[in-house]
Amino acid sequence: MEDTAQAIAKLTRARWEANAQYWVKIIRERRDRYRTELTDAAVLDAVGDCSGQRVLDAGCGEGYLARRLAAMGAEVTGVDAAQGLIDAASSHPAREGRATFTRASVEDLPLEDDRFDLVLCNHLFSHLQDPSRAIGEFSRVLRSGGRLILLTLHPCFYVENAEQGAASSVPAAQYFTPRGIDQRFMVDGLESPSMITSWLRPLEYYAGTLRDAGFVIADLREPHPTEEQLRDDPWWRKGFPTAMFMLLIAERR
Ligand SMILES: C[S@@+](CC[C@H](N)C(=O)[O-])C[C@H]1O[C@@H](n2cnc3c(N)ncnc32)[C@H](O)[C@@H]1O
Repeated sequence: MEDTAQAIAKLTRARWEANAQYWVKIIRERRDRYRTELTDAAVLDAVGDCSGQRVLDAGCGEGYLARRLAAMGAEVTGVDAAQGLIDAASSHPAREGRATFTRASVEDLPLEDDRFDLVLCNHLFSHLQDPSRAIGEFSRVLRSGGRLILLTLHPCFYVENAEQGAASSVPAAQYFTPRGIDQRFMVDGLESPSMITSWLRPLEYYAGTLRDAGFVIADLREPHPTEEQLRDDPWWRKGFPTAMFMLLIAERR
């Protein structure tokens, strides 16, 4: 089993190395409307005032949220498995001195115990085939009372091609086992060079794994467009056919 997990982690990293420049373009040209008009605001609202806090941006990608939190006064460490994305984050001209970036897997963090006030996982969990090791690492590096905020695809409702309007329920036989959806990103008409697998697990997995790692779930939110966005903008009507995102806030006991 361990060999399979390692092989999947290696493949995930290789796919993200292949997608690195694509991802930099998507983020820096602000092409992903799910982020720019919905999930970023939901995440920042959950984070609140982070001035003076030590924050881990886990799976930081090209670093835009790390830069944002550093500009708000946080001391941010960004880690990501893909060297191409860490290089992009480290060399960004607007990088604040308070944001540093390291290539590492969230499953084996080269960081000391009890170091952070907040661990932020923005669109990371669906890229982890089995997030239990990462959750254990987040528990280890957070101080008691620190928070884990994770924004991910909604495990109950997200289906293949939801971004293109596909909506359906998830049959129980699929819902209660880890399910992987293989697809390329298609953002604003741009297709990613590499396939990505999005992994989804049932809600009880999140609750149980967080509990066993010493967390208490403090809040569960489901970021969604406003009535006005759905009424006035056909892009949202097509692109949000079902609840697509889940945001969990958990506190380290
Ligand atoms: C959808 S991107 C999100 C990046 C960034 N948080 C953002 O919102 O733009 C998922 C990221 O997770 C990273 N990733 C996947 N598996 C990882 C792992 N085991 N450890 C660290 N990063 C990982 C990928 O390299 C990629 O940058």
